[in-house]
Amino acid sequence: MTPPKPASRPDRVTLRRYVRLFRADILSAQPARLYRAWMAEFRTPFFRSYLCNDPALIARVLTERPDDFPKSGRIGEGLRLLLGQSVFVTNGTQWKRQRRIIDPAFEGGRLRDTFPAMVAAGQAAVARLHPGEVEIEAEMSHAAADVIFRTLFSIPIDHGVASAVFAEFRRYQRTQPILNLAAFLPLPRWFPRFHRRAAKEAARSIRRLITDLTEARGRAIVAGTAPDDLATKIMTTADPQTGETFGTEEMVDQVAIFFLAGHETSASALSWALYLLAMYPEAQERVAAEALSLPDVPGFADLSRLKFTRDVFRETLRLYPPVPMMVRQNAQTENLRGRTVPAGAQIVLSPWHLHRHERIWPQPDAFAPERWQTDEGRTCARDGFMPFSAGPRVCTGAGFAMVEGVLLLALLVRSFRFSRLAGRDPVPVAHLTVRASDGIWLGVERRG
Ligand code: HEM
Repeated sequence: MTPPKPASRPDRVTLRRYVRLFRADILSAQPARLYRAWMAEFRTPFFRSYLCNDPALIARVLTERPDDFPKSGRIGEGLRLLLGQSVFVTNGTQWKRQRRIIDPAFEGGRLRDTFPAMVAAGQAAVARLHPGEVEIEAEMSHAAADVIFRTLFSIPIDHGVASAVFAEFRRYQRTQPILNLAAFLPLPRWFPRFHRRAAKEAARSIRRLITDLTEARGRAIVAGTAPDDLATKIMTTADPQTGETFGTEEMVDQVAIFFLAGHETSASALSWALYLLAMYPEAQERVAAEALSLPDVPGFADLSRLKFTRDVFRETLRLYPPVPMMVRQNAQTENLRGRTVPAGAQIVLSPWHLHRHERIWPQPDAFAPERWQTDEGRTCARDGFMPFSAGPRVCTGAGFAMVEGVLLLALLVRSFRFSRLAGRDPVPVAHLTVRASDGIWLGVERRG
């Protein structure tokens, strides 16, 4: 298959130009050398950043000594208003305790339990979609938000509170600056942040709505009438070490991150997957053939029929990782590839660069789902694929997202054919996740 063509990449850019390019088009803006380098240093008057593509360095930071590389405090400024002390932003013992309570809700067996709610959300997405020229990101955000509400609180997105939260989230997202600018690029702390007030208002209103849902669930648990969903599971799980459960406030923090991390990312991945399938109709027909072999209402075991669809979803996560970069801070002096790095530097781990790294992946820019069935592909993935991060801080929802993504893709392609609209190819930009600057517009027709 011919690769999607990134515009030519500049070789070197000034920092000022880099900021501008980063905002304009993350795909073609990155200097070519970052896709070849094992490490790159960015020096500024305020701090230093190190972009690490070396698999050994990534393993050190994420897997071998994660406690020595806590999450950078710079990243969450805008997000903190919304997320409070959620598992996404905490560090150390607080973070470990939170993971002990949350992780059991996402274990394999529980995924099977949440599957019918995902199927229902997929069917609703199919019913909402109409033939024509469609902005698919909005549709996928809606669908992924629906998955989260149905699995977490057993309510569909058209439930009054759920749709209010969804609307507020969209308002909140519009207030957010480009992701990671503050962490990856050297904006000093005094740099004016954008849209502070609007962000605060939206965050407050989202938290109020989520608090109502959480309190109501707390009462239902006491009354013995709570449904057996993710919220009930998390709220009734005690930390095996301390015996404590989450209080309302701390649960609200977690619900906020499940909603944000869970729907933005999956929506991004599904949208890019549909765009890639529109670009490569042959692959789309293979997905359709698998999807058409499913029973009307698929069960968990039917997922095993969707092998190629799964490879398409993985290849999408490689080419368009929804979380393009992650930032850590070294707690002590480190030696990084022969350079002495004083404590407090920003260590940037970048799925975006790693997944297209020229020294790891053959034809790194090519859409080639079949690579996932080769030994070579699996070896490359071991060193160069981390859409969900890695190590103890790996995405809690990774298994959940792989089931959701593959299932929704199959249900959509079973009912519709997606095509590229001439002159309207999306330009990827890094917002909270990798999105298209003017949305992803696709032609949609019903399969006969
Ligand atoms: C395709 C979909 C998804 C992708 C690509 C993705 C990716 C990621 C990545 C890269 C991180 C690590 C961020 C960092 O360390 O800075 C992360 C963390 C997290 N994700 Fe996901 N995610 C996805 C879906 C989900 C879903 C569906 C949920 C929950 C329902 C979820 C919940 C979380 C949480 C709670 C964390 C924080 C974990 C921690 O810091 O301990 N994610 N995700």
